[in-house]
Amino acid sequence: MQINFLKFLKKNSFYKFFIVLIFLFTVLMVFRFLPQKNPKQPIAYNHKVHIETAGLQCVDCHVSVEQRAFATLPSIEICQNCHAGDPLTESEEEKKLLSYISEGKEIPWLKIYNVPDHVYFSHRRHIIKGEVTCSECHGNINEFINPVSSQFIDITMDNCMKCHEERKVTNDCLTCHR
Ligand code: HEC
Ligand code: HEC
Ligand code: HEC
Ligand code: HEC
Ligand code: HEC
Repeated sequence: MQINFLKFLKKNSFYKFFIVLIFLFTVLMVFRFLPQKNPKQPIAYNHKVHIETAGLQCVDCHVSVEQRAFATLPSIEICQNCHAGDPLTESEEEKKLLSYISEGKEIPWLKIYNVPDHVYFSHRRHIIKGEVTCSECHGNINEFINPVSSQFIDITMDNCMKCHEERKVTNDCLTCHR
């Protein structure tokens, strides 16, 4: 029985080849669903066009950045102020936006910058009291024609503390861990 099976395999090396192929294909499929290093935003949003052509400022979309801890990502209501009736461009990306709007669905933007729950970070504190500019932490967003897909400076404890040291801000554990 065993010998027969071996003979069968020898005679049928084509099948073995096939099994290897199926295995490789499965591995590839599994990799496709693992988290990617450059996550894709649902719409290829363009910062530059909105700042230069539409004349918007950061706070028009990231509405609580000067008042609260969180800057927030914009809801479609903000986009709707300008993108409601006829499309403004030929862009496929704008078509996607208009279909979210007509279905009344929020756009599931991915948040790229995150601090864990045990860390306290406030935009207001940094921008208003600290006079730190957006670009020091996020890069020159004014020039971004592609959506934000990675962190400009890595949000790590070391990087927070490095700047605090330079600007003589306290690095007491309890300022950031409450
Ligand atoms: C103050 C008006 C205004 C608001 C608010 C606004 N847009 Fe736009 N948007 C424009 C204008 C003007 C253009 C066309 C620019 C041009 O002529 O190329 C545009 C173009 C676009 C395009 C296609 C052009 C490209 O380069 O991709 C997309 C997609 C888009 N907007 C998405 C959004 C989203 C998403 C929001 C909400 C977060 C939003 N817009 C909010 C005015 C606005
Ligand atoms: C000192 C560094 C620093 C500065 C300055 C800064 N940010 Fe942030 N930003 C962060 C960190 C850290 C996070 C992640 C915060 C979190 O997850 O709680 C973040 C998150 C964000 C987010 C994601 C949404 C959110 O609320 O978490 C947006 C949008 C944003 N920042 C916009 C801005 C804008 C606009 C400015 C300038 C007006 C700015 N940031 C200035 C560090 C900074
Ligand atoms: C580019 C420089 C810079 C970076 C990066 C930075 N900070 Fe700050 N931070 C400041 C400045 C300047 C102040 C002082 C603001 C003030 O005068 O109250 C401050 C103040 C603070 C305070 C309030 C301190 C107090 O006295 O109560 C906290 C909390 C804080 N930062 C947390 C963070 C965390 C968490 C990170 C990293 C995710 C971070 N900061 C990254 C510059 C920075
Ligand atoms: C018309 C609305 C609009 C304006 C104006 C705008 N943004 Fe945004 N911003 C968005 C949208 C939509 C996203 C999510 C898509 C992306 O990542 O590009 C975003 C994402 C971001 C993020 C990434 C946050 C995260 O954690 O995912 C940062 C940082 C940011 N914006 C900073 C800025 C700064 C700085 C300015 C001013 C120079 C600005 N934005 C102006 C709509 C806007
Ligand atoms: C300026 C802000 C800041 C200060 C001051 C600070 N931390 Fe942190 N800490 C962070 C941030 C942001 C993270 C999360 C990102 C990371 O893990 O690098 C973190 C993460 C941690 C973690 C979790 C690490 C992990 O692997 O999950 C520990 C433990 C910690 N900090 C301890 C401390 C101690 C002890 C001190 C005082 C000596 C301190 N921190 C001071 C910002 C700060």
